[in-house]
Amino acid sequence: MKARMDRRKFLMAATAAGVALTRAKSHAAGGSDKPVLLGGKPVRLKGGPKSWPIVTDADEKAVAEVVHSGRWYRGASVARFEQEYAKLNGAKYCVATSSGTSALYASLGALGIGPGDEVIVAPYTFVATVNVVLLHYAMPVFADTDRETFLIDPRKIEAAITDRTAAIIPVHIGGAPCDMDAILAVARKRNIPVIEDACQAHLARYRDRNVGTWGTTGCFSFQVSKNLCSGEGGAILTNDEEMANKCFAFHNCCRTRAGAKAGFRYTGGRSTNVRMTEFQGALLLSQMAHLEERARIRSENADYLTRMLREIPGIIPARACEGATRNAYHLYMFRYQPEQFAGMPRAKFLKALAAEGIHASGGYGPLNKMEYIQHALNSRPYLRVYGKAAIEQWRERNACPENDKLCEEAVWFSQGTFLGPRSDMDRIAEAIRKIQAHAPQLAKA
Ligand SMILES: Cc1ncc(COP(=O)(O)O)c(C=O)c1O
Repeated sequence: MKARMDRRKFLMAATAAGVALTRAKSHAAGGSDKPVLLGGKPVRLKGGPKSWPIVTDADEKAVAEVVHSGRWYRGASVARFEQEYAKLNGAKYCVATSSGTSALYASLGALGIGPGDEVIVAPYTFVATVNVVLLHYAMPVFADTDRETFLIDPRKIEAAITDRTAAIIPVHIGGAPCDMDAILAVARKRNIPVIEDACQAHLARYRDRNVGTWGTTGCFSFQVSKNLCSGEGGAILTNDEEMANKCFAFHNCCRTRAGAKAGFRYTGGRSTNVRMTEFQGALLLSQMAHLEERARIRSENADYLTRMLREIPGIIPARACEGATRNAYHLYMFRYQPEQFAGMPRAKFLKALAAEGIHASGGYGPLNKMEYIQHALNSRPYLRVYGKAAIEQWRERNACPENDKLCEEAVWFSQGTFLGPRSDMDRIAEAIRKIQAHAPQLAKA
């Protein structure tokens, strides 16, 4: 125990010293009119994504208690987390899982999705959204993105539905709520279940109701970068008891909640083991105490930044869809237009920002064009179930021209950027203005 504590103290002291040094340098630098790439001084942020995850003494105590109890297998902590996470989101049931991927996988498994089915997915997302469809040997069908919102376009969903469509997976990307009224209206007309990918959208709200509670299920990730995290982890929310039981069985080797004491009872059909451990459950309970407060800080900072960025030509913050009442800001997303920056390519803009001490990303590539999906589709089982002609036509049928353009224009800041002081937002806007003012020289440099 002593050695562990000493190491921890050392790490914390080293981190604090590093932060103090960075701050001292930053104060001394004080920013300047010229971008760093042209010899100026950086603006730098006080907070920033490196400060994530935020570890508290309560986290350490919670995990240590589980370690010492010797009860490491899914038990009281996971069960309490499920109750509290359901309550926090206003859902009736929660099934905790090992990851967001497994939450999505179990939801599709509980619906009995399999070979021959089509699942409509958003193309602007992390690969896991489509991977779970492939894991069930179902056919992913991409519905194009609305470039202004970065979200799946409900009109494109309607156009993609066939008599084989077995589920729709909209993604609340970056924590921005999808247009659930429009999506559910399309889905209900054809009686198609909706699985919300809310992996990036903890506490986001649509019409003042949390996302993840609108569809047949809503799936969350607690992977370490997420706004609520435990290294890895996931959860399924649902208001449908039968669906909750099916998801539970799918994630737990076909066994019901009754557990060992009642003598294992088996239900369902195909299943796996993607259970959450007690360590994750305890850590999530402890981290959850800060979720609301951190969501508020991110939201206030992000809204403030949006007001400034809207004034900068060529920087177009993602538009909230009508009905979105709270964005979780796992990502702050905007479009960058090089023509307003003397033709400077996005990569150069990102480099100039990084030089200022502001980390930004160019975001996702076009998922529907990725070679690994072609590998999956051209595998023996896919060719056998769907036939060569359908696989050959897949690329054309799944063209998403709006998404292609978005993938070239997008820029993101991550959620940690929004937990610092408001002055960080001023620094970000200042850096972008500075880069724009010197864009002709930067573009040539
Ligand atoms: C949109 C989206 N869906 C699904 C996932 C999968 O979650 P996990 O990494 O917990 O498996 C993620 C995680 O990054 C995600 O961002």
